[in-house]
Amino acid sequence: MHAAPDAGDAAGPPATPHPQPPRGVDPTRPREAGWVMTTDIVFPHHANTMGTLFGGRALELLDINAAIACYRFARRTVVTASTEAIDFRAPVHVGEIVEVRSRVVWTGRTSMIVRGELVGEDPRSGERRLATVGHISFVALDDDGRPVPVPPLLVETAEQRHHHAIGGRVREHIQLRRVHDPLEDA
Ligand SMILES: CC(C)(COP(=O)(O)OP(=O)(O)OC[C@H]1O[C@@H](n2cnc3c(N)ncnc32)[C@H](O)[C@@H]1OP(=O)(O)O)[C@@H](O)C(=O)NCCC(=O)NCCS
Repeated sequence: MHAAPDAGDAAGPPATPHPQPPRGVDPTRPREAGWVMTTDIVFPHHANTMGTLFGGRALELLDINAAIACYRFARRTVVTASTEAIDFRAPVHVGEIVEVRSRVVWTGRTSMIVRGELVGEDPRSGERRLATVGHISFVALDDDGRPVPVPPLLVETAEQRHHHAIGGRVREHIQLRRVHDPLEDA
């Protein structure tokens, strides 16, 4: 076992400081956002009565994957602020492979909008279908739990521009909702 040197022992080497966790990334420098991918299998306990992936499980997979996309983009603690429209376009059956991918597609000052996609894959035939598509918004927080700026998003390719435009419309819906249905005390 390796004993840490006593910081009070003048004869010993200086204590090595603990590595400091990164405090986010430069919020003024545009950053590229990468896809985060997770692959899983649909087990029976994640199925609905039709024997297909339960919607709540799909949302859980998407939310976790999307949160990782935001962590990697902002290098900050993030919280889910809202789930936006999520379309369940096709079922994924028990025993099939489920691939979840997400990427930050729009950024505000402290918030990020993530596009999430869930693909179902027949493990024997290899047939794949886009089963679920939706958006989730997150807010980056500082060490005191207050919203903190995130870097601007680099938008360069045609696909990034397309997804960014959709993200902008999602943001408009969020703003409208906040105006017309403001928070009230319980
Ligand atoms: C999300 C949260 C941090 C926002 O805090 P707030 O004090 O309302 O923040 P502000 O009004 O200063 O807004 C900060 C940002 O959040 C966005 N925001 C606030 N409420 C939002 C909502 N309901 N949906 C989407 N975005 C929202 C604002 O648009 C703003 O974005 P911008 O900086 O990019 O313009 C706060 O409402 C919260 O902590 N919610 C609970 C989160 C949670 O428990 N999630 C589930 C578990 S992870």
